[in-house]
Amino acid sequence: MRVISNGVKKVGIIGLGSYLPKKVFTNADLEKMVDTSDEWITTRTGIKERRIASVKEAASDLAQKAAESALKDASLKAKDLDLIIVATITPDMQFPSTACLVQKALGAAKAACFDISAACAGFVYALSIAEKFILSGVYRNALVVGSEKLSSITNWKDRNTCVLFGDGAGACILASVKSGGIISTYLGADGKNSHLLTLPAGGSRLPTSKETVSKKLHFVKMQGNELFKSAVRIMSDSVDKVLRKAGLSCKDLDILIPHQANIRILLAVAKKTALPAGKIYFNIEKYGNMSSASTAIALCEAVKSGRIKKGDIVVLDAFGAGLVWGAMVIKW
Ligand code: UT7
Repeated sequence: MRVISNGVKKVGIIGLGSYLPKKVFTNADLEKMVDTSDEWITTRTGIKERRIASVKEAASDLAQKAAESALKDASLKAKDLDLIIVATITPDMQFPSTACLVQKALGAAKAACFDISAACAGFVYALSIAEKFILSGVYRNALVVGSEKLSSITNWKDRNTCVLFGDGAGACILASVKSGGIISTYLGADGKNSHLLTLPAGGSRLPTSKETVSKKLHFVKMQGNELFKSAVRIMSDSVDKVLRKAGLSCKDLDILIPHQANIRILLAVAKKTALPAGKIYFNIEKYGNMSSASTAIALCEAVKSGRIKKGDIVVLDAFGAGLVWGAMVIKW
């Protein structure tokens, strides 16, 4: 491939879109399925309801709808897309990539396509990869999507996990910008704690068998308590590190767009970083934890509702299975 340096100095988000399935599943609905209560779920997690995709909808369908909305917002045609990256842990299939299925659905024939697996930090990882492609002059634009159908890997009989997750997709278009754009990124991982959050079977370690199905190894397994502590420590640290990389401090931050895993995690991050809770965007009560889609949808909502204005310093902050984390400072 011939790399042409095109003098791109800054890459920014020029369009955003999101899609949430119609079906609203409330804590009251869950009370009828497992031994739980609205009171427990609300006080322990902050979640009141979540969206559940229909049996006909897979991750690529959610991604397609979010992507169409982002393309419209950016006034860009699908045929002009250079790159599609989908961040997901619930791909339609092991292969082909969900990005290829999105390409087909959109008619983005020219785009290179791949998925990335970085769980709840997937959207931030994917943004960073797309930024590098554009900065290097390889591509002019990219579609980045975080899309999840977590309901498909949820054990609806396990109260420890089934109350937490929801389905949805968020998308954005990246391109070179004259003002604002991505200022700094901080990505990290800690594979030695990979056992804390897994989908044990269905891969090459434990291929699907009658045994894996009967042992319910195709559903999310989580050690919530341990993850909680890591999430608070790492998400707080990431905010400090990424701001420092940008030559900024917490005082300069206008809004934090965090991964939405638990409201208590976010309030603890606020305390540790001395950030007023009013500077944090919350939507967990409506959607629960949507892994890679959480940060993407939160960013889209914050922009569309006017919470993010031109010139604002926005920090994305995500953490999840791997363990992986990613934070990014964007000047809007
Ligand atoms: O997105 C990727 C990153 N994910 C995270 O960071 C998730 C982090 N973890 C968490 O958000 C929290 O750990 C959970 C929300 C998952 C759990 O909250 P917790 O305060 O850590 O509860 P716990 O697991 O310590 O359980 C406390 C009690 C237990 O009962 P006993 O053993 O004390 O009698 C659980 O069995 O709460 C019980 N429990 C429930 N009770 C009612 C667990 N789930 C439920 C439930 N309803 N749904």
